[in-house]
Amino acid sequence: VKVLRVALLGAGTVGRKVATILLEHADDLAAKAGCRLEVSGIAVRDATKPRAGIDPALLTEDAAGLVANSGADIVIELIGGLSPAKELIVSAIEHGASVITANKALLASHGDEIFAIAERNGVDVYFEAAVAGAIPIVRPLRESLVGDEIRAVMGVVNGTTNYILDKMSTEHQDFNQALAAAQDLGFAEADPTADVEGYDAASKAAILASLAFHSSVPGSAVYREGITDVTPEDIEAAAAMDCVVKPLAIARVDEQGRIEVRVHAAMVPLTHPLAMVHGPNNALVVEAANAGRLMFLGPGAGGSPTASAVTGDLVTVARNRVRGVVGPAHSLYQALATAPMGQT
Ligand code: HSE
Repeated sequence: VKVLRVALLGAGTVGRKVATILLEHADDLAAKAGCRLEVSGIAVRDATKPRAGIDPALLTEDAAGLVANSGADIVIELIGGLSPAKELIVSAIEHGASVITANKALLASHGDEIFAIAERNGVDVYFEAAVAGAIPIVRPLRESLVGDEIRAVMGVVNGTTNYILDKMSTEHQDFNQALAAAQDLGFAEADPTADVEGYDAASKAAILASLAFHSSVPGSAVYREGITDVTPEDIEAAAAMDCVVKPLAIARVDEQGRIEVRVHAAMVPLTHPLAMVHGPNNALVVEAANAGRLMFLGPGAGGSPTASAVTGDLVTVARNRVRGVVGPAHSLYQALATAPMGQT
């Protein structure tokens, strides 16, 4: 049986869960992937810290060494942030490894460069976990709906802010109480500024817009407002109008091809499907010319849901490697101008 070596970078909320699934469900994953997935190492900040269920011999503080020297076939990057994540991913690709990442900030700022390097090196970069946790949205946009014309993608793409606004409106908690609870539950980013100031949602919206509109939309081009200015009075005023305040991401393209992407809190009527998206759940509404309106709903943050998306990518990438192919996910978007249908 073929064996693929998997290096894991990061053992935070998501990384720990991925490691546990890899170690405890090795036979199931092997049957699905058509090869065994052997963990070659797990890079962490402090290798002396005990981690339940993980053999300490797998832990290393030398992420660069793990990527370059462990013979990894697949590198899973779950450390987040731009640096050293970018350097590690580039090194992994240049060493011939396929990459799986949940790093929305990195893809929204340097995605084009990373995918170009991956394409040159003939390896996969998969990132289902970068947007909306467990919800399959990257593959539907890139594969299932690629024959359609997507006009809009909108919804709730940040679990932390959705959870905070929910708690403020249903339990009258104040902002800081609700944020602390979201952090305890493992939804918030290490630095929750990325959540509450809208950077996390802006990165996700940029990725969604790039995929949906076959374009290159950087996170910096997204109009962004955080939720820190939302007051209990705003929430009460919304309730008086039979509305709730939701953290929305909206990406649209008009008939002239002009793309608009924005992230901000907005009042949503109680009768709208997005009003029913609670807690750390995310939801996306996709409007396409032929498919009509589609809705995707489910857990958008947290260890297990995000690990589900990562392990789905892992099996897919492993299957590709076993067959010696690169999947359709070899770029963030397939730009219509440079890759019209029928060309490769
Ligand atoms: N902090 C993010 C959220 C996690 O709350 O949605 C998933 O990116």
